[in-house]
Amino acid sequence: MSAEIIDGKAFAAALRGQVAQAVPAFVEAKGRKPGLAVVLIGGDPASKVYVRAKVKATLEAGLESFEHQLPETTAQRDLVALVERLNEDGRVDGILVQLPLPAPINEKAVIAVIDPAKDVDGFHVANAGALAVGEKSLVPCTPFGALALLKHRLGDLSGLEAVVVGRSNIVGKPMAQLLLQQNCTVTIAHSRTRDLPEVIRRGDIVVAAIGRPQMIRGEWLKPGATVIDVGINRIVVDNQGGTRLVGDVDFDSATEVAGAITPVPGGVGPMTIAVLLRNTLVAAHARAGLPAPEGL
Ligand code: GUN
Repeated sequence: MSAEIIDGKAFAAALRGQVAQAVPAFVEAKGRKPGLAVVLIGGDPASKVYVRAKVKATLEAGLESFEHQLPETTAQRDLVALVERLNEDGRVDGILVQLPLPAPINEKAVIAVIDPAKDVDGFHVANAGALAVGEKSLVPCTPFGALALLKHRLGDLSGLEAVVVGRSNIVGKPMAQLLLQQNCTVTIAHSRTRDLPEVIRRGDIVVAAIGRPQMIRGEWLKPGATVIDVGINRIVVDNQGGTRLVGDVDFDSATEVAGAITPVPGGVGPMTIAVLLRNTLVAAHARAGLPAPEGL
């Protein structure tokens, strides 16, 4: 048996297209484009790659991009002051501070300063709390994108067993909340879970977000399971220093057992950026007192 490969890249391209199509009506109504401010502190190579991709996608969708790159040595109070300026800036609908932030900056303290209405990452406690109690909120991009892929593949998720592996605030916890809202029976597994293979085997849905390359093996899966691999890990593949991106799931063995699986790269990753644009558009409409754009 060979699993269906879920084409996140194609799905993300369609979502980006939907966002781009909705921009002219906003411009017509407000006389400006929706704007996304991206803040990068320091020179972490992976973060630089992600930020470049986010800026490029923002411009391609016809949104305004405000880029702020500050040195590694930036003081927390200067970063806070920048976020406060962006909160006040009427052209800015979304604020994204790329994580991780260099030590000794306190990430939680910085996120707490972001206006929840502009928090397109959905990381502010006001948005995390709203998600937990089922109120309208800005939802973290990666879990929102993962859910869109699951609904596309499975339709109604009601009653399905979902196992989320990982309990981060960025992915695991919001993913579990979203699946619960869809009436799944949700288990959150993590590094202290006893007998992880046994827990994972319950899952009609498995979402892997642990950051351990190829850890989840095909033999651990329930036959026919839908597997969403959030991991992006760079591994060395030869003694010349060649590297390759892999997920948290061992793709080769998983495709023998799963019903469907997202590849790495080309699965969840592209969805994250597409949802960021979607969240920016949604935030822009909400801030402007306009109804949410159709279908988004
Ligand atoms: N670092 C890794 N993923 C993310 C994300 O989704 N948003 C931000 N701001 N930083 C990240």
